[in-house]
Amino acid sequence: MDAIGIERGADEPRLLELPRPEPAPEEALVRTLRVGVDGTDHEVIAGNHGGPPDGEDHLVLGHEAVGVVEDPGGTDLGAGDVVVPTVRRPPADGPNEYFERGEADMAPPEATLERGIDGAHGFMSEYFASPEEYLVAVPPELASLGFLVEPVSISEKALELAAAARSSFDWRPETVLVLGNGALGLLTVAMLVDDADVYCLGRRDRPDPTIDIIERLGATYVDSRETPVSAVPEVHEPADLVYEATGHARHAFESIEALAPGGVAALLGVPDPWTFEVDGGRLHEELVLENKALVGSVNSGVRHFEAAVDRLRELPGWFPESFVTEVAPYRSFEPAFRSGPTSIKSAVEFARYEER
Ligand code: NAP
Ligand code: BGC
Ligand code: ZN
Repeated sequence: MDAIGIERGADEPRLLELPRPEPAPEEALVRTLRVGVDGTDHEVIAGNHGGPPDGEDHLVLGHEAVGVVEDPGGTDLGAGDVVVPTVRRPPADGPNEYFERGEADMAPPEATLERGIDGAHGFMSEYFASPEEYLVAVPPELASLGFLVEPVSISEKALELAAAARSSFDWRPETVLVLGNGALGLLTVAMLVDDADVYCLGRRDRPDPTIDIIERLGATYVDSRETPVSAVPEVHEPADLVYEATGHARHAFESIEALAPGGVAALLGVPDPWTFEVDGGRLHEELVLENKALVGSVNSGVRHFEAAVDRLRELPGWFPESFVTEVAPYRSFEPAFRSGPTSIKSAVEFARYEER
């Protein structure tokens, strides 16, 4: 079968010819429909994050997938079911306490593999195999957009952790500041605009398609070159919730200043090492005297995928049409990995969904 992978030492993905996976008795064989591309894939391709399985010379890419069960094997799934796989799998020495508790998303990096990212092949292939516990059934109407379930689930988990950190008092976020107008930031704006005043920070000039989406959603665009994160409370208003999706390490600290008393900032970005100065004493004092919180969040579990399915169905119909800017057939997949001012979210298509 054909697959898209990155070879050790290479700097761009390639079409690979690989054997079709042979599912273990408790695994289903899934025909891949579409697989999304995000900032993490670009980090993996650049050699800055993750890498191939031990002893192998390539990594099949892709962690945002949707597919159709081709052969249920020993699972309770049915042939033709539309499914979305979760990303984390047990390491080579077998399931550890995190997997046994069903909390793989809480495992530290050394206690997990990540399909398509770190140490385990991903889903950019015509078929993949998976145990049922790592497959989430989605309604057939999500067959074409199901590759957005994984990124939405990332935000579901982060918002859950943020709310949990504020659960000891009556916390109702009325103002949200989303840092970053990349795919994750825009999805999160779309998820939150119905319930709060949302500001979204970027560093782009108009005209720009991400600014158009932010404004059409009813949110306010903030240009970080004119209004740095720490100035948002003065220029606009303090935020009850900050959602950081820029990967710009200073934003973790500037978020403290952007928060209203009792607010919480969820940090999602995965920055490269960067040494800089901050007034640690002042920020520490502000966290304490204003009851503020910072929470980091990575990955997501089945519960977050299920919430993401509901959330995706609630988004306005025009949103995915403007947000998904490229769906490339797998034999000419290259445009899906190109970034540019007009590209927002891209995916690779392996097969079209046909109802059985
Ligand atoms: P992305 O497409 O690279 O988006 C980042 C966005 O932030 C870009 O649009 C960029 O603007 C903007 N940005 C960067 N620095 C900025 C600054 N100083 N001021 C204003 N805007 C700035 O990445 P993504 O896929 O949306 O993901 C966002 C971050 O989350 C990445 O760091 C990614 O690694 C991380 N991530 C984490 C998880 C998790 O589980 N924690 C999951 C998925 C992704 P330009 O485009 O104009 O440069
Ligand atoms: C993926 C997560 C993963 C994280 C760190 C993100 O892009 O969506 O599932 O845990 O990267 O590798
Ligand atoms: Zn991702």
